[in-house]
Amino acid sequence: MAHAFGGVWTERKLSVVRRYLEMYAQALKNQAFQRVYIDAFAGTGDRTDKRRETLPLLDLPDFDAVAKGSARIALEVDPPFHRYVLIERATRRASDLSGLKSEFPSRNIEIVNDDANDAIAALCKQINWRSTRGVVFLDPYGLQVTWGTLVGIAGTRALDVWVLFPSGMGLNRLLTKSGDIPQEWQETLDRSLGTKEWRSAFYRTEEAPDLFEGSRSKTVKDANPMKLEKFYLDRLRTIFPTVMNASVRLTNSKDQTMYLLCFACANPSPKAKALTTKLAGWATKA
Ligand SMILES: C[S@@+](CC[C@H](N)C(=O)[O-])C[C@H]1O[C@@H](n2cnc3c(N)ncnc32)[C@H](O)[C@@H]1O
Repeated sequence: MAHAFGGVWTERKLSVVRRYLEMYAQALKNQAFQRVYIDAFAGTGDRTDKRRETLPLLDLPDFDAVAKGSARIALEVDPPFHRYVLIERATRRASDLSGLKSEFPSRNIEIVNDDANDAIAALCKQINWRSTRGVVFLDPYGLQVTWGTLVGIAGTRALDVWVLFPSGMGLNRLLTKSGDIPQEWQETLDRSLGTKEWRSAFYRTEEAPDLFEGSRSKTVKDANPMKLEKFYLDRLRTIFPTVMNASVRLTNSKDQTMYLLCFACANPSPKAKALTTKLAGWATKA
Protein backbone atom coordinates (compact mmCIF):
# COMPACT_ATOMS: atom_id res chain seq x y z
CA MET A 1 0.00 0.00 0.00
CA ALA A 2 1.32 3.48 -0.82
CA HIS A 3 2.15 5.77 2.04
CA ALA A 4 0.82 9.37 2.23
CA PHE A 5 3.24 12.08 3.30
CA GLY A 6 4.91 15.31 2.36
CA GLY A 7 4.03 18.24 0.22
CA VAL A 8 5.66 20.10 -2.65
CA TRP A 9 8.98 19.82 -0.86
CA THR A 10 8.88 16.04 -1.19
CA GLU A 11 9.29 16.29 -4.97
CA ARG A 12 12.32 18.52 -4.61
CA LYS A 13 13.91 16.35 -1.93
CA LEU A 14 13.56 13.15 -3.93
CA SER A 15 14.72 14.75 -7.17
CA VAL A 16 17.97 15.91 -5.50
CA VAL A 17 18.59 12.47 -3.99
CA ARG A 18 17.80 10.72 -7.30
CA ARG A 19 20.23 12.92 -9.22
CA TYR A 20 22.95 12.35 -6.65
CA LEU A 21 22.52 8.57 -6.68
CA GLU A 22 22.60 8.46 -10.48
CA MET A 23 25.78 10.52 -10.71
CA TYR A 24 27.39 8.67 -7.81
CA ALA A 25 26.75 5.27 -9.41
CA GLN A 26 28.23 6.48 -12.69
CA ALA A 27 31.25 8.06 -11.01
CA LEU A 28 32.14 4.92 -9.06
CA LYS A 29 31.19 2.25 -11.59
CA ASN A 30 34.77 1.45 -12.65
CA GLN A 31 36.17 1.39 -9.14
CA ALA A 32 36.66 -1.83 -7.19
CA PHE A 33 34.49 -0.74 -4.26
CA GLN A 34 31.28 -2.48 -3.28
CA ARG A 35 28.56 0.18 -3.40
CA VAL A 36 25.90 0.16 -0.70
CA TYR A 37 22.74 2.25 -0.49
CA ILE A 38 21.18 2.59 2.94
CA ASP A 39 17.67 4.03 3.19
CA ALA A 40 17.15 4.49 6.91
CA PHE A 41 13.55 5.75 6.92
CA ALA A 42 12.47 3.87 3.83
CA GLY A 43 8.65 4.01 4.02
CA THR A 44 6.95 1.62 1.60
CA GLY A 45 8.79 2.35 -1.65
CA ASP A 46 5.85 4.38 -2.93
CA ARG A 47 4.03 7.43 -1.72
CA THR A 48 0.71 9.09 -2.41
CA ASP A 49 1.01 12.61 -3.57
CA LYS A 50 -1.54 15.11 -2.28
CA ARG A 51 -2.49 16.90 -5.48
CA ARG A 52 -4.25 19.75 -3.67
CA GLU A 53 -0.87 20.80 -2.30
CA THR A 54 0.81 20.76 -5.71
CA LEU A 55 -2.08 22.36 -7.61
CA PRO A 56 -3.54 24.73 -5.01
CA LEU A 57 -5.21 27.07 -7.49
CA LEU A 58 -7.30 24.48 -9.27
CA ASP A 59 -10.69 23.82 -7.82
CA LEU A 60 -10.47 20.07 -8.15
CA PRO A 61 -11.55 17.49 -5.62
CA ASP A 62 -8.66 16.00 -3.65
CA PHE A 63 -7.17 13.01 -5.35
CA ASP A 64 -4.11 10.97 -4.68
CA ALA A 65 -1.54 9.93 -7.25
CA VAL A 66 0.97 7.23 -6.48
CA ALA A 67 4.54 8.36 -6.95
CA LYS A 68 7.89 6.72 -6.35
CA GLY A 69 9.43 6.82 -2.92
CA SER A 70 13.16 6.90 -2.16
CA ALA A 71 13.63 3.10 -2.02
CA ARG A 72 12.15 2.54 -5.48
CA ILE A 73 14.08 5.50 -6.87
CA ALA A 74 17.35 4.02 -5.56
CA LEU A 75 16.54 0.57 -6.93
CA GLU A 76 16.06 2.04 -10.40
CA VAL A 77 19.54 3.59 -10.43
CA ASP A 78 21.74 2.19 -13.15
CA PRO A 79 24.38 0.86 -12.69
CA PRO A 80 22.85 -0.52 -9.50
CA PHE A 81 24.36 -0.52 -6.04
CA HIS A 82 25.74 -3.93 -5.01
CA ARG A 83 23.68 -3.91 -1.84
CA TYR A 84 20.50 -2.11 -0.74
CA VAL A 85 19.60 -1.90 2.95
CA LEU A 86 16.08 -0.58 3.48
CA ILE A 87 15.30 0.20 7.11
CA GLU A 88 11.75 0.83 8.29
CA ARG A 89 10.44 0.64 11.84
CA ALA A 90 6.74 0.22 10.99
CA THR A 91 6.13 -3.47 10.38
CA ARG A 92 3.41 -3.01 7.74
CA ARG A 93 5.56 -0.62 5.75
CA ALA A 94 8.54 -2.95 6.04
CA SER A 95 6.37 -5.74 4.68
CA ASP A 96 5.33 -3.52 1.74
CA LEU A 97 9.03 -2.92 1.09
CA SER A 98 9.52 -6.67 0.78
CA GLY A 99 7.35 -6.53 -2.36
CA LEU A 100 10.20 -4.64 -4.04
CA LYS A 101 12.31 -7.81 -3.95
CA SER A 102 10.10 -9.51 -6.54
CA GLU A 103 9.90 -6.36 -8.64
CA PHE A 104 13.70 -6.02 -8.66
CA PRO A 105 14.90 -9.65 -8.63
CA SER A 106 18.41 -8.75 -9.79
CA ARG A 107 19.00 -6.34 -6.90
CA ASN A 108 20.50 -7.45 -3.59
CA ILE A 109 17.91 -6.05 -1.15
CA GLU A 110 17.75 -6.43 2.63
CA ILE A 111 14.75 -5.17 4.57
CA VAL A 112 15.45 -4.30 8.18
CA ASN A 113 12.33 -3.85 10.33
CA ASP A 114 13.96 -1.92 13.15
CA ASP A 115 14.76 1.50 14.52
CA ALA A 116 16.99 3.39 12.07
CA ASN A 117 19.47 4.52 14.73
CA ASP A 118 20.02 0.98 16.01
CA ALA A 119 20.22 -0.49 12.51
CA ILE A 120 22.75 2.08 11.31
CA ALA A 121 24.92 1.61 14.40
CA ALA A 122 25.04 -2.12 13.62
CA LEU A 123 25.79 -1.63 9.90
CA CYS A 124 28.55 0.88 10.60
CA LYS A 125 30.26 -1.78 12.74
CA GLN A 126 29.61 -4.78 10.46
CA ILE A 127 30.55 -3.53 6.99
CA ASN A 128 34.15 -3.56 5.82
CA TRP A 129 34.58 0.10 4.91
CA ARG A 130 37.97 -0.39 3.29
CA SER A 131 36.29 -2.11 0.37
CA THR A 132 32.88 -0.43 0.50
CA ARG A 133 31.58 3.01 -0.38
CA GLY A 134 27.99 4.15 -0.20
CA VAL A 135 25.22 6.62 0.33
CA VAL A 136 22.86 6.88 3.29
CA PHE A 137 19.56 8.70 3.05
CA LEU A 138 18.08 9.80 6.38
CA ASP A 139 14.53 10.93 5.73
CA PRO A 140 12.62 11.11 9.01
CA TYR A 141 9.37 12.97 9.69
CA GLY A 142 10.82 14.71 12.73
CA LEU A 143 13.86 14.74 14.97
CA GLN A 144 14.34 10.94 15.02
CA VAL A 145 17.94 10.93 13.80
CA THR A 146 20.21 10.87 16.84
CA TRP A 147 23.57 12.59 16.85
CA GLY A 148 25.19 9.23 17.60
CA THR A 149 23.93 7.96 14.24
CA LEU A 150 25.68 10.78 12.41
CA VAL A 151 28.84 10.16 14.45
CA GLY A 152 28.68 6.47 13.44
CA ILE A 153 28.29 7.39 9.75
CA ALA A 154 31.17 9.88 9.94
CA GLY A 155 33.31 7.18 11.57
CA THR A 156 33.05 4.92 8.49
CA ARG A 157 35.13 7.45 6.49
CA ALA A 158 33.38 5.88 3.49
CA LEU A 159 29.74 6.97 3.43
CA ASP A 160 28.05 10.03 1.96
CA VAL A 161 24.88 11.14 3.68
CA TRP A 162 21.84 13.15 2.74
CA VAL A 163 20.02 14.05 5.91
CA LEU A 164 16.68 15.76 6.15
CA PHE A 165 16.69 18.06 9.15
CA PRO A 166 13.32 19.42 10.31
CA SER A 167 14.49 22.93 11.14
CA GLY A 168 11.03 24.49 10.91
CA MET A 169 8.83 21.48 11.59
CA GLY A 170 10.94 20.21 14.49
CA LEU A 171 13.67 22.41 15.92
CA ASN A 172 11.91 25.78 15.73
CA ARG A 173 8.73 24.36 17.24
CA LEU A 174 10.54 22.88 20.22
CA LEU A 175 12.34 26.16 20.89
CA THR A 176 9.45 27.83 22.69
CA LYS A 177 9.16 31.62 22.73
CA SER A 178 9.54 31.83 26.52
CA GLY A 179 12.52 29.44 26.67
CA ASP A 180 10.56 27.35 29.11
CA ILE A 181 10.97 24.00 27.35
CA PRO A 182 9.53 20.72 28.68
CA GLN A 183 12.25 18.29 29.82
CA GLU A 184 11.33 15.72 27.16
CA TRP A 185 11.73 18.29 24.38
CA GLN A 186 15.09 19.39 25.79
CA GLU A 187 16.26 15.78 25.69
CA THR A 188 15.09 15.44 22.08
CA LEU A 189 17.08 18.55 21.16
CA ASP A 190 20.19 17.31 23.00
CA ARG A 191 19.90 13.91 21.32
CA SER A 192 19.42 15.19 17.79
CA LEU A 193 21.97 18.03 17.97
CA GLY A 194 24.54 16.22 20.10
CA THR A 195 25.05 19.26 22.33
CA LYS A 196 23.28 21.49 24.84
CA GLU A 197 24.70 24.58 23.15
CA TRP A 198 21.41 25.19 21.36
CA ARG A 199 20.24 27.04 24.47
CA SER A 200 22.94 29.72 24.35
CA ALA A 201 22.73 29.83 20.54
CA PHE A 202 19.00 30.50 20.36
CA TYR A 203 18.21 32.35 23.58
CA ARG A 204 19.61 35.50 25.17
CA THR A 205 18.90 37.24 28.42
CA GLU A 206 17.57 40.79 28.38
CA GLU A 207 17.02 43.19 31.18
CA ALA A 208 13.40 44.33 31.11
CA PRO A 209 12.27 47.42 33.09
CA ASP A 210 10.14 46.48 36.07
CA LEU A 211 7.88 48.94 37.90
CA PHE A 212 8.78 47.63 41.37
CA GLU A 213 12.24 46.08 41.11
CA GLY A 214 13.84 48.52 38.62
CA SER A 215 14.71 45.78 36.14
CA ARG A 216 14.18 42.08 35.71
CA SER A 217 15.99 39.61 33.45
CA LYS A 218 13.96 37.99 30.74
CA THR A 219 14.78 35.11 28.35
CA VAL A 220 14.27 36.04 24.71
CA LYS A 221 14.24 33.60 21.79
CA ASP A 222 16.74 34.59 19.13
CA ALA A 223 16.27 32.21 16.20
CA ASN A 224 15.55 32.67 12.51
CA PRO A 225 15.73 30.20 9.60
CA MET A 226 19.28 31.25 8.65
CA LYS A 227 20.53 30.88 12.20
CA LEU A 228 18.93 27.44 12.53
CA GLU A 229 20.57 26.33 9.28
CA LYS A 230 24.00 27.66 10.22
CA PHE A 231 23.83 25.96 13.60
CA TYR A 232 23.03 22.55 12.09
CA LEU A 233 25.61 22.79 9.30
CA ASP A 234 28.25 23.89 11.84
CA ARG A 235 27.34 20.87 13.98
CA LEU A 236 27.82 18.57 10.98
CA ARG A 237 31.21 20.21 10.32
CA THR A 238 32.39 19.10 13.76
CA ILE A 239 32.27 15.45 12.63
CA PHE A 240 32.35 15.32 8.80
CA PRO A 241 35.34 16.44 6.71
CA THR A 242 33.02 17.71 3.96
CA VAL A 243 29.65 19.41 4.42
CA MET A 244 27.86 21.14 1.56
CA ASN A 245 28.02 24.94 2.10
CA ALA A 246 24.30 25.48 2.04
CA SER A 247 21.45 23.07 2.50
CA VAL A 248 18.54 22.64 0.12
CA ARG A 249 15.72 24.55 1.78
CA LEU A 250 12.41 22.78 1.48
CA THR A 251 9.59 25.24 1.83
CA ASN A 252 5.81 24.94 2.02
CA SER A 253 3.37 26.82 -0.19
CA LYS A 254 3.71 29.87 2.13
CA ASP A 255 7.49 29.85 1.49
CA GLN A 256 8.27 28.87 5.07
CA THR A 257 11.27 26.57 5.53
CA MET A 258 10.03 23.23 6.80
CA TYR A 259 13.10 21.07 6.30
CA LEU A 260 16.74 21.40 5.32
CA LEU A 261 18.24 18.72 3.09
CA CYS A 262 21.91 18.62 4.04
CA PHE A 263 24.81 16.77 2.48
CA ALA A 264 27.98 15.50 4.14
CA CYS A 265 30.75 13.12 3.10
CA ALA A 266 32.65 11.03 5.63
CA ASN A 267 35.59 10.22 3.35
CA PRO A 268 38.46 12.57 4.26
CA SER A 269 40.50 12.05 1.06
CA PRO A 270 40.90 15.22 -1.06
CA LYS A 271 39.75 13.24 -4.14
CA ALA A 272 36.51 12.17 -2.47
CA LYS A 273 35.95 15.67 -1.17
CA ALA A 274 36.34 17.19 -4.64
CA LEU A 275 34.13 14.58 -6.31
CA THR A 276 31.28 14.56 -3.80
CA THR A 277 31.22 18.36 -3.52
CA LYS A 278 30.87 18.57 -7.30
CA LEU A 279 28.17 15.87 -7.48
CA ALA A 280 26.16 17.26 -4.57
CA GLY A 281 26.31 20.72 -6.13
CA TRP A 282 25.03 19.37 -9.46
CA ALA A 283 22.32 17.35 -7.76
CA THR A 284 20.87 20.46 -6.20
CA LYS A 285 20.82 22.43 -9.48
CA ALA A 286 17.49 21.06 -10.62
C1 LIG B 1 9.09 10.62 5.53
S1 LIG B 1 8.80 8.90 5.64
C2 LIG B 1 10.02 8.27 4.56
C3 LIG B 1 9.67 8.31 3.14
C4 LIG B 1 10.61 7.60 2.21
N1 LIG B 1 11.98 8.05 2.34
C5 LIG B 1 10.14 7.76 0.77
O1 LIG B 1 10.68 8.60 0.03
O2 LIG B 1 9.23 7.02 0.37
C6 LIG B 1 9.49 8.42 7.19
C7 LIG B 1 9.41 6.93 7.46
O3 LIG B 1 10.23 6.63 8.59
C8 LIG B 1 9.59 5.64 9.39
N2 LIG B 1 10.16 5.79 10.73
C9 LIG B 1 9.82 6.67 11.70
N3 LIG B 1 10.64 6.53 12.76
C10 LIG B 1 11.55 5.57 12.43
C11 LIG B 1 12.68 5.02 13.10
N4 LIG B 1 13.04 5.44 14.33
N5 LIG B 1 13.38 4.08 12.47
C12 LIG B 1 13.04 3.65 11.22
N6 LIG B 1 11.97 4.12 10.55
C13 LIG B 1 11.24 5.09 11.14
C14 LIG B 1 8.11 5.94 9.26
O4 LIG B 1 7.34 4.78 9.52
C15 LIG B 1 8.02 6.41 7.81
O5 LIG B 1 7.72 5.34 6.96
